[in-house]
Amino acid sequence: MAKQHVSSLQISIFLLVLLNPVFSSAKSGIDSHDRIGSLVRESCKNWTEFPNICVSTLEADSRSIGINTFPNLCRVAMEVASTRINETLSFIYQFQVNETDSTTQFHLKACVRKYTAGISLIEVNAIPAFDEKDFEESYNDVALSRQLVAECDDSSVTKLFNDRQTELIQFITDVVNLADRQRRISH
Ligand SMILES: *[C@@H]1O[C@H](CO)[C@@H](O)[C@H](O)[C@H]1NC(C)=O
Ligand SMILES: *[C@@H]1O[C@H](CO)[C@@H](O)[C@H](O)[C@H]1NC(C)=O
Ligand SMILES: *[C@@H]1O[C@H](CO)[C@@H](O)[C@H](O)[C@H]1NC(C)=O
Repeated sequence: MAKQHVSSLQISIFLLVLLNPVFSSAKSGIDSHDRIGSLVRESCKNWTEFPNICVSTLEADSRSIGINTFPNLCRVAMEVASTRINETLSFIYQFQVNETDSTTQFHLKACVRKYTAGISLIEVNAIPAFDEKDFEESYNDVALSRQLVAECDDSSVTKLFNDRQTELIQFITDVVNLADRQRRISH
């Protein structure tokens, strides 16, 4: 009987030892997730024009998981912006292929060009400049990219988008705001 007690106690201790690190690492995992989440949420809330779009777009992207500093957040936001522009580009490209109305076709082609240039400004100019800590240049490139994407505004085209284009421009505006913050704090 006593022997049985000892062995069940041993089993309990064994289980505790076994499970405890699991519990503690799961707990610290949750803690650090909250901390990362709050950096994204606070930064979006403090510094951007459309904080809800900023938070939801960043949180939906797995690249946001590792964010632990403001510059890191800013760089990830630029990458996400580039991906989002590219997704919308693929979306409008489908229409361009089939469009029969020549005016709409003309505007769609212009949009494809502007989106492509917008992606290139982020990938080829803004991100490399950011990595070289040229935050002024990086800000200017993202702002120019935003302007190009916003120029895709002919009603014949925007009616195909529903809210996609509006949300995209709002998110890029947020990224411009974050890049602006980065350039100001580094001065
Ligand atoms: C956001 O603003 C609050 C209140 O001013 C401040 O305490 C916090 O540190 C700021 N957070 C970030 C990430 O800028
Ligand atoms: C464009 O046309 C192709 C082939 O006819 C069709 O499969 C595709 O669904 C069309 N795309 C759109 C957006 O209408
Ligand atoms: C958009 O994404 C596709 C597929 O991921 C890629 O092949 C293409 O080069 C990208 N376009 C631009 C302009 O970066």
